[in-house]
Amino acid sequence: MTPIQIHEQPTGVTRRKFIKGVIAAGAAVSASSYLFRGPEQLFGQGSLPGAVERLMTLTVNGQQRRVDVMKQETLAMTLRYKLGLTGTKLGCDRSECGACTVLIDDVPHYSCSILTHTVRAKKVVTIEGLESPDGTLHPVQQAVVDEQGFQCAFCMPGFVMSTVGFLKANPNPTLEQLAHGISGNLCRCADYNKILTAMMRGAENMRRA
Ligand code: FES
Ligand code: FES
Repeated sequence: MTPIQIHEQPTGVTRRKFIKGVIAAGAAVSASSYLFRGPEQLFGQGSLPGAVERLMTLTVNGQQRRVDVMKQETLAMTLRYKLGLTGTKLGCDRSECGACTVLIDDVPHYSCSILTHTVRAKKVVTIEGLESPDGTLHPVQQAVVDEQGFQCAFCMPGFVMSTVGFLKANPNPTLEQLAHGISGNLCRCADYNKILTAMMRGAENMRRA
């Protein structure tokens, strides 16, 4: 009888780790390319026939930002590792925690689950873009300071962005409505009562502003 052949499976390499590695490698390559590229090449380079256009302009926090983006790159990766906007946090990196929430055309989105190429013609706002040019905090940011509403605050940028987006459409919510509206955000410190108190104060601040 012919013995059954058992093929060994590679261990330690998951699909998730593989994708992360590809993104990290691309970020390093893109970053290094900036070191050796002159401004005329940056704005004037053409694409070879059949090539995917990687150099694109994003509108982030009211500014036009030129950036080299891989076609499989998420917005969270671009914001944090290409544009240096590290206020956007990466928690789960799979649409579960909301730490990466940004506004896209005023609507909250998980930036870990949006491909950067899909936001070319849209306006992206991160936590860094909320304050006024003179440094005045956004009313919801000020409420966080006033209420000290977070423990470690890793989840804070995501909660603030979700709340700002929710309040744009619902400026006068009840506590229950706000809790439901930002329920896509999780806090590992489970400090929800204090967070909701701060966000309700933010709503009040926005109505006064
Ligand atoms: S990091 Fe995007 S939802 Fe958790
Ligand atoms: S305050 Fe620590 S994760 Fe929310």
